[in-house]
Amino acid sequence: MIKPLALTMLALMSASVAAADTPATLMAHFAQQAGSPVLALSAARGETLYRSEHPGHAGTSVSCASCHTANPKQPGRTRVNKRIEPLAPAANPQRFTDAAKVEKWFRRNCQDVLQRECNAQEKGDFIAWLSQLK
Ligand code: HEC
Repeated sequence: MIKPLALTMLALMSASVAAADTPATLMAHFAQQAGSPVLALSAARGETLYRSEHPGHAGTSVSCASCHTANPKQPGRTRVNKRIEPLAPAANPQRFTDAAKVEKWFRRNCQDVLQRECNAQEKGDFIAWLSQLK
């Protein structure tokens, strides 16, 4: 029978595994998925992805900055005016530390803005840009 202490240890261990992602490990992961070296990721392309406007609903235009604001170190707003914590790790150290969360929101927001999923290179570029903001 497993003792409660052992269970606690196991829980702690798996918690630390789940929290092991960082912007750097996620960039390495997406670069590998894209089949290119991490150094080939481009912060400049990441910024373009963030700022470029795409046709939205009813003649409006939409970009990542629509919700995350022109300055990703600032808090953003959803369409129903709910606060979004800043996206840049410099302002919010929780960002890009949970691969499942990152994948979930890339899927949802890229679909929303670009009407398609972002590819691995775009995801890597996006994190490359945000994580070098000071
Ligand atoms: C309609 C509003 C909206 C737009 C537009 C939007 N986002 Fe977001 N984004 C959110 C919300 C809401 C969250 C989740 C709440 C949170 O994490 O604070 C989020 C979270 C994220 C996260 C999670 C990061 C992490 O580690 O916590 C990523 C990645 C992300 N967005 C990428 C994008 C990209 C890329 C675009 C543009 C293609 C974009 N978002 C456009 C609302 C938006």
